[in-house]
Amino acid sequence: MGVKFISTGRFLPDKILTNFDLEKMVDTSDEWIRTMTGIRERRIASDEIATSDMVTEAARIALEKGNLKPQDIDCIIVGTITPDNAYPATACWVQKNLGLKGFPAFDVSAACSGFLYGVIIAKSLLESKIATNILVAGAEMLTKVTNWEDRNTCVLFGDGAGVAILTLSDDNSDILSYNWGANGNLGELLIQPAGGSRLPASHETVDKNLHTVTMDGKEVFKHAVRWMAISAEQALKNAGLTKDDVDLYVPHQANIRIIESTIKRVGIPREKTMITIDRIANISAATVPISVDFAIEEGRLQRGDILLLNTFGGGFTWGALLIRW
Ligand code: ACO
Repeated sequence: MGVKFISTGRFLPDKILTNFDLEKMVDTSDEWIRTMTGIRERRIASDEIATSDMVTEAARIALEKGNLKPQDIDCIIVGTITPDNAYPATACWVQKNLGLKGFPAFDVSAACSGFLYGVIIAKSLLESKIATNILVAGAEMLTKVTNWEDRNTCVLFGDGAGVAILTLSDDNSDILSYNWGANGNLGELLIQPAGGSRLPASHETVDKNLHTVTMDGKEVFKHAVRWMAISAEQALKNAGLTKDDVDLYVPHQANIRIIESTIKRVGIPREKTMITIDRIANISAATVPISVDFAIEEGRLQRGDILLLNTFGGGFTWGALLIRW
């Protein structure tokens, strides 16, 4: 029996914020943003919704596509760093929204690697027969933790959710191998400093914008390329495959230049690389499942194809997952 992705779904808020809109908000330009990041526009969630609402919408689509009922799900895992609340977990709100209860529902905090970490956990839960149909989501509302006066960061992020439903199957589909890791020594390089036990919310933390994303862009860039490449190569090696066996490569969408440097290093052609950053920007844990969903819709991913997922994010965390779709 292999681990099969039954179906996927995505939710992107309707509101679009273009680079030209940002030109009116901070000292930036469409040309700078496109050249330096590859982003043209990003989606912004309305004030009325939270992360769990986006996951719920994406989940309903995935359930329909997979001919499943909500009652068929017996575990929910949400990769997110922008949960509805510190607790309960966003996954618990999704369970409630879908009219379900009883089975485990929990979040995974691994920043941009959250969905990938969630799939790896789901694989082991399925293989040990702890669950039969697992809903794994990557979802973020990063624009609610963005400092809209900081041009270094506010141009980079967007909102959205992507989900996949996983089961065990005796057809050809399987997760062939994976590689995952973290380096907590470098956590300070990409951090939302306040709001946790280290620096609880106060008037001062709000005044100093410490509830928003803080990062050393150059260092993040360097480590992202290095560890995405190492991780992808390790996953290929673990499966006894080479870069030439990959039909579609779906990397985390942080910056087009990170993607270009990584594919050059691993040796994957651009034609085999899924690029969505231009239309959705960086949605952290959500970028990979949303990009896979777009790939299916656009006919770029067929059953039997070899799919390589690859991520890097705050922590630092990273991972690669090799799938026979
Ligand atoms: N518009 C115009 N100018 C800008 C902007 C902007 N939005 N942002 C920065 N600049 C300026 C800087 O002020 C600087 O000006 P100066 O030379 O006068 O000081 C100049 O552009 C160069 O800035 P750098 O920060 O040195 O540019 P860099 O080449 O590092 O690119 C970037 C910045 C795009 C953020 C890059 O470092 C990057 O993408 N890093 C990866 C970080 C990332 O993607 N983080 C997302 C979360 S992590 C993840 O998802 C893996």
